[in-house]
Amino acid sequence: MTQIVMHSFAKALGSRKITNDDLSRMMETSDEWITQRTGIKSRFWAEPGIGSSDLAVDATRESFKQSGTDHVDAIIAATLSPDHYFPGIGVLIQTKLGLKNIPAFDIRQQCSGFLYGIQMAHSLIKSGTYKRILLVGSEVHSTGLDISTRGRDLAVLFGDGAGSCIIEEATTAPTNTTRFEIIDSELHSDGADARELWCELPGSVHFTSAITPDEFQHGAVFPKMNGRRVFENAVKRMTEVCNSLLSKNNIKSEQVSHFIPHQANTRINEMVANLLQISPERCFNTIQNYGNTTAATIPIGFTDAISSNRFKSQEFVLSAAFGSGFTWGSAIFKVV
Ligand code: ACO
Repeated sequence: MTQIVMHSFAKALGSRKITNDDLSRMMETSDEWITQRTGIKSRFWAEPGIGSSDLAVDATRESFKQSGTDHVDAIIAATLSPDHYFPGIGVLIQTKLGLKNIPAFDIRQQCSGFLYGIQMAHSLIKSGTYKRILLVGSEVHSTGLDISTRGRDLAVLFGDGAGSCIIEEATTAPTNTTRFEIIDSELHSDGADARELWCELPGSVHFTSAITPDEFQHGAVFPKMNGRRVFENAVKRMTEVCNSLLSKNNIKSEQVSHFIPHQANTRINEMVANLLQISPERCFNTIQNYGNTTAATIPIGFTDAISSNRFKSQEFVLSAAFGSGFTWGSAIFKVV
């Protein structure tokens, strides 16, 4: 059977490191609250004027360097924070990299965006439509958050960053980078909870010209989250989808050497790993350094895990995500 692999993982971060103490000077919060509730110690914010497409381009240049070529047949870009309302960042990444005429897709699946991208790229390559795909997740959250005490429940969680990789058949992929065979993936969504984690404005149901100063002042243009509901669903849904995917592929959780989950909250990941009977040392977290970088968290996790030499040939690697939509999913890989 055709082996399709992800390889040449790379990341880019905002250039300003923001610690919890820095945030305490901007709003009523504390290092103690943020560390205990989320596990986050710092995050990176981009300089003003830098958009998600810029961070995506920085990460991608490094992926191209590792893979030895900048030739790709398609771009899949996952983000909830596009540079502009439209067009998406895929075409901006394309032009900034000087890649002419290839198709560029944007995925709006928030924290699950990279996993949605993996399934899409895997299917497009398996079907023979494209041979080599750039998959990149990128976010600049810092410009869209309410950086004040009113917005502190969300403002402390998010960071800016991008992560990228190349997906293609193993026969054409370079052998000098860590390669992950995509074995299978499973995705879900439930729009009934769309308003539990969302950004209401701007949007096409509302005339942009009719956004009032009052709506600005009351924060309708900033994201809102029912934290408890999201937390409970994240634990339940990530556990369910991992169990379902593992059992479909006859893989037991003790065979999983590395779990690289989305990074929304350390406590969520600890609970999911515990329910899956994956021991803490097999769960790879980066949230302490970068906060939640939404669509970029999974490729940033792979990049850092590769840098710390965690992988051995033939090991199983499991990933899972949950986020706004609600959307969630899981994917299983083998190091080859
Ligand atoms: N600093 C200090 N106090 C705060 C802060 C803050 N940054 N934020 C909230 N508080 C206060 C609240 O006002 C509340 O005060 P009160 O008790 O006087 O009313 C108290 O802390 C407790 O607030 P809770 O919201 O109950 O805190 P909780 O323990 O639920 O933690 C958190 C909040 C961290 C947001 C948690 O609910 C969470 O992680 N939820 C899931 C996040 C997630 O998974 N997001 C999905 C991905 S994001 C995406 O898809 C875009």
